Amino acid sequence: MTSYKELGLVNTREMFAKAVAGGYAIPAFNFNTMEQMQAIVQAAVECKSPVIMQVSKGARAYANGTILRYMAQGAVEYAKELGCENPQIVLHLDHGDSFEICKECIDNGFSSVMIDGSHLPYEENIALTKKVVDYAHAHDVTVEAELGVLAGVEDEVSSAVSHYTKPEEVVDFSTRSGCDSLAISIGTSHGAYKFTREQCTVDPQTGKLVPPPLAFGILAEIEKQLPGFPIVLHGSSSVPQDEVDTINAFGGKLPDAVGIPEEQLRQASKSAVCKINIDSDSRLAMTAAIRKHFAEHPDHFDPRQYLKPARENMKKMYIHKIMNVLGSNDKL
Ligand code: G3H
Ligand code: 13P
Ligand code: ZN
Repeated sequence: MTSYKELGLVNTREMFAKAVAGGYAIPAFNFNTMEQMQAIVQAAVECKSPVIMQVSKGARAYANGTILRYMAQGAVEYAKELGCENPQIVLHLDHGDSFEICKECIDNGFSSVMIDGSHLPYEENIALTKKVVDYAHAHDVTVEAELGVLAGVEDEVSSAVSHYTKPEEVVDFSTRSGCDSLAISIGTSHGAYKFTREQCTVDPQTGKLVPPPLAFGILAEIEKQLPGFPIVLHGSSSVPQDEVDTINAFGGKLPDAVGIPEEQLRQASKSAVCKINIDSDSRLAMTAAIRKHFAEHPDHFDPRQYLKPARENMKKMYIHKIMNVLGSNDKL
């Protein structure tokens, strides 16, 4: 058993309370590699921002859970070495799908877990979430739950049953499950293709796709039902078009990749949304830099030569999100 406290990590409780009160959101960046971890820590330290480093099931399979845990401990020590006296870093399990995975993470240094029962029937989602909460809280670990299925607008309009979170369920769900934060569905979705061409309009000046707005009315209703309760947005990459263009210009093929406009994420960050999940934008920043580097330096084969600009490009993106979108800078 390794408590996250031994690793210098913190849970989300105080962080979220401050973010909700202060009208900003904490960045939750997924990581799989050392370069992502370094870029996240450098950005957080330079911006004086709390940060959530999150690990998916895929990340655990790719990098090994034990290595990721020690990387998180390394992240805390690295932040101190960079001059941050009191780093506020959470190690979070992203999309945990069973009690067993959550328990394993809690027992091995994670300070926060997500139990994603959103695909289960309502009562089963509550029961599973409560089981995780009971175990997690006994170890002072915080728990994110999900209500409503994350899906694109297409599913929303084509389905007879709404996938969006039902505001009338959130009080019952959060009270009975005991979760510390709630991920909701208001029109975001995972990956670099969040909307189809048909769901978007086309900007006549740039020819780029303009996605439909998020369901802010549902968010407002949820906030009314659960005043001050921490809300989480998954699928919140904005899929920067300059990175997509760079990837496509240097041999990539990402036609019509489109994300959530940053203006809408800015608006959400000022509300009860206090955690915003970003993974795809980091993948795009890394890939764009590497493709460009290889095109310009076909003779390079030392990974450090192309991973360095990749790391710099991810750091630039993380800093931009913190400073210009989420507003979590200068909070340490
Ligand atoms: O929620 C999805 C995250 O982007 C993690 O993705 O499962 O491919 O690591 P992954
Ligand atoms: P993106 O694919 O939009 O980056 O979402 C990531 C996410 O929600 C991780 O849980
Ligand atoms: Zn997610």
